[in-house]
Amino acid sequence: MAEALSLSLLLGTLLCGLLLHAVSQHRVRDEESKQKPNFIIILADDIGWGDLDVNQPDGDSTNTPHLNLMAAQGLRLTDFHSPASTCSPSRAAILTGRYGLRNGVTHNFAVDSVAGLPLSEVTLPQLLQEAGYYTAMLGKWHLGHNGPYSPVNRGFDYYLGIPYSNDMGCTDTPGYNLPQCLPCDRFRLKRSAHEGCYSKVGLPLIENSSIVEQPLDLWTLTDRYKSAATTIIHKARERGQPYLLYIALAHMHVPLSPPPPSEPSSATYHSHNGSVYTACLREMDSLVGAVKRASDDTEKDNTLIWFTGDNGPWEQKCQYAGSVGPFTGKWQTSRGGGSAKRTTWEGGHRVPTVAYWPGHIPANATSSALLSGMDIFPTLLSLAGVTPPSSRRYDGIDATNVLLQSQHTGHEFLFHPNSGAAGRFGDLQAVRTGKHKAFYMTGAAESCGGATGKHQLHDPPLIFDLERDKSEETPLDARTPEYKAIAERVARRREELLWDIATDASASTADYSVDKSAAPCCDRTQAVCRCHTLG
Ligand SMILES: *[C@@H]1O[C@H](CO)[C@@H](O)[C@H](O)[C@H]1NC(C)=O
Ligand SMILES: *[C@@H]1O[C@H](CO)[C@@H](O)[C@H](O)[C@H]1NC(C)=O
Ligand SMILES: *[C@@H]1O[C@H](CO)[C@@H](O)[C@H](O)[C@H]1NC(C)=O
Repeated sequence: MAEALSLSLLLGTLLCGLLLHAVSQHRVRDEESKQKPNFIIILADDIGWGDLDVNQPDGDSTNTPHLNLMAAQGLRLTDFHSPASTCSPSRAAILTGRYGLRNGVTHNFAVDSVAGLPLSEVTLPQLLQEAGYYTAMLGKWHLGHNGPYSPVNRGFDYYLGIPYSNDMGCTDTPGYNLPQCLPCDRFRLKRSAHEGCYSKVGLPLIENSSIVEQPLDLWTLTDRYKSAATTIIHKARERGQPYLLYIALAHMHVPLSPPPPSEPSSATYHSHNGSVYTACLREMDSLVGAVKRASDDTEKDNTLIWFTGDNGPWEQKCQYAGSVGPFTGKWQTSRGGGSAKRTTWEGGHRVPTVAYWPGHIPANATSSALLSGMDIFPTLLSLAGVTPPSSRRYDGIDATNVLLQSQHTGHEFLFHPNSGAAGRFGDLQAVRTGKHKAFYMTGAAESCGGATGKHQLHDPPLIFDLERDKSEETPLDARTPEYKAIAERVARRREELLWDIATDASASTADYSVDKSAAPCCDRTQAVCRCHTLG
């Protein structure tokens, strides 16, 4: 074990040396590690592909000026996909570089989940930490909050954030949601009005492994994240270690808690559909801008910032949901139901993505390479000169050449696992290859109007040409040679992959059991676990 580790460190060191062209053989490890790049991953929650101004064809909207600038100074990835269409599986796959069928996380963990991402899984922060990185995480974890499953026990030196989604607990001043949830102290009186609101336990804010506030103040969360992020970035230089900063934003997940309207005419957001979401999107963008500024002010040329999303918009939330852009999943919506978050339609997993690293990633570039959030794991390790344990099988690919050399080679095949819309969780129900996408199963999430649609198996699969048909409206005619060739290729690859997973000795199984006592609770004697403060 120790030998394997030191060997991988050595290999990593060599690779890093080759990469930087300039590392002398005789330098001590400390000095080498100083030259390793810093990484900032910013993961937005439930953001739509179309929410990024520069993804819109007309380019008229001005909601994301900081991200637009980052794209102008970096690389916009237009065919980048979250590894799943819902929170926990997407995050697990990003941090392990593996599909949910391997890492065990195929659906969301709950407030009272006993466990989380299986302890047998090796995480990105863990490997970077072992390679000398300082690793910090801000924001939503959602991979298990108890004991060994918490971020500080999975590779992070520091953690500040919420253990799961911001709608999984009451707060004293709730944000905007549909249905609108009541404040913590009032839900008991109106239990029936609380369908769909988690209300037994206050939403906690956790630092390292301690609850520091419960329920937390949603309306100050952005400022807390902003100040923690800028402090971490500014302190990094004093520390003399390269760093990984993983910021998993509460934005754009409901409840939305945007800054108050600036124009007197919009005294309340309630009467202005859309403006709550827009105000929140602008707030998120300005947070991204603050992180970029802190990084530009410190180690600009040595820091890669990678902005992406965990899955598509939560359509069921109507005016509080983001935009899928042209990826409207018409085949599905014409049959009822929503085609974004929780589905394998493009709106569920194609996410706005920008990579920025001045002097390394060419500016003002766009790439349509087929990539996934799972690629972050091998790519960052490669840039850091770290070799992941060879005893494990990975699904992400090293996208270094796409980022640094403007190459356009992405995945030859990319699978989209079922994330709750149809069939068994984690099943590889859709697959992309080139411009084609094949569905073996289709299903919908709840739409804004409440329709849910049917789960349907497709044998032979439905195949869409995404270049001609971004909205996935009309499948190819199964009698054409084009169809037959694609169907044969994807069927073969799907069988190979299923076999590879079935025989993967490193595959994990997650424990999804729940127990009341597993909920994070500041003070069990208080209602909603409220932290009892003296004075
Ligand atoms: C969290 O850990 C950091 C050191 O990494 C420490 O400075 C801070 O005080 C800790 N916070 C809590 C609440 O324990
Ligand atoms: C707000 O949106 C809802 C559904 O999204 C719609 O039913 C309602 O008419 C809209 N209200 C206004 C004022 O536009
Ligand atoms: C960025 O590229 C586009 C075309 O791809 C071009 O129209 C634009 O002027 C460029 N902007 C800058 C700042 O170079």
